[in-house]
Amino acid sequence: MILLTNAKMIRRDNELISADLFLQSGKISRIASQIGPEAGWKVIDCNGMLVTPGFIDPHVHLREPGFPDKETIRTGSRAAVKGGYTTVFAMPNVSPCPDTPQRMADMVLRAQDAPLDVRFYAPLSAGEKGEELTDFQALKEAGAVALSDDGKGLQHNGLMRQAMQLARAQDLVIAAHCEDESLLNGGYIHDGLYARQHKHRGISRSVEDVQAARDLLLAHETGARYHICHMSTHRVVDLLELAQSWGARVSGEVSPHHLLLTDSDLREDGRYKMNPPLREEIDRLRLIEGLNTGVIQVIATDHAPHTSEEKSRGLAGSPFGITGLETAFPLLYTYLVKPGYITLQTLVDAMTKGPRQVFGLEAGELAEGAPADLTLTDLRDEYVIHAADHESKGRNTPFDGWRVKSRVDTVIKSGRIILQGGTILD
Ligand code: DOR
Ligand code: ZN
Repeated sequence: MILLTNAKMIRRDNELISADLFLQSGKISRIASQIGPEAGWKVIDCNGMLVTPGFIDPHVHLREPGFPDKETIRTGSRAAVKGGYTTVFAMPNVSPCPDTPQRMADMVLRAQDAPLDVRFYAPLSAGEKGEELTDFQALKEAGAVALSDDGKGLQHNGLMRQAMQLARAQDLVIAAHCEDESLLNGGYIHDGLYARQHKHRGISRSVEDVQAARDLLLAHETGARYHICHMSTHRVVDLLELAQSWGARVSGEVSPHHLLLTDSDLREDGRYKMNPPLREEIDRLRLIEGLNTGVIQVIATDHAPHTSEEKSRGLAGSPFGITGLETAFPLLYTYLVKPGYITLQTLVDAMTKGPRQVFGLEAGELAEGAPADLTLTDLRDEYVIHAADHESKGRNTPFDGWRVKSRVDTVIKSGRIILQGGTILD
């Protein structure tokens, strides 16, 4: 039994109210302006910190099995806890790929001792090769939370339609990495001013837009639940909004880097390379608008750790991806909420309620009877991001050295304290 006193809860927008929360048997059992305390309760004085549901990131790469030099479930879980997360969904571009029920069951087993909820996507296609669909029903029964071939777009139109029909029958969400390879043209950063000036090959917006448009049409036609991963272009927001107006069951996510950076921030440095790439201000502003209007429901980091050696090969030679779990909330609070681009409520909703609703989770709300998955954040604290201090094995973040306001202090998972005063409790 834990009593949290003196916490601040979001009432609306940026407005905070004082609250006490009583946690019992892994659930939030009461929320009121003042509660108890009674003998035998463990009391935590939140000292005015923000209390929110534990953050949920439905798009991370934990690299296990297959790539332990980049990350493991253990190190990625620790990074997530540090970042205030209590639930993450890991993508299946690992080796071997969890494309059979046995392999999926093995993934679930690997994560059973993790301090937070680690769920797994099943791939849409065997080995993410885009040729043959996996057995969605068997993979769901083995524990898959949703379906994705992330890291790759599904190139074949007919196969995607068939996948949607089958996913609908299993009531599984398809989370799609939209990338039409026939339009890629060897590109690896955004096809814009920076690419032209520095003689790099560009990825045009159409690479993402064309496949997203196809998928939205197919999602409407089949009635499938469909979610666009890491949206990066202004038109993909327009397309998603349009499909929602038809009544299609479609949603979208955006990553912190696409909300904060553009190709004008690019350096000749692998830490600025991810897929999809950093776009332009028109895209960034439309993504922010999409969050504000509710067209985009989810902020997901696409946490993609790589070794320093791999990332030392510049823009052309480095693999795609940057880390994100340990920096998402402080960065977005400092550079989007503080200057007034979005409200604190919009930020927190996109990291809790949005994923809860899109993926039909129990966690992700502050309510009596809800799981006691909670994050306490000190909004008054300030620090400089040091990638070298991160729990993740990945040091590949372009935000190294950025000053941020707010610090994740305490994380509670199912009523158990797993982070306290910024320190992981083992
Ligand atoms: O930047 C990325 N990295 N984008 C992806 O789609 C895959 C990911 C990875 O696995 O590294
Ligand atoms: Zn992806």
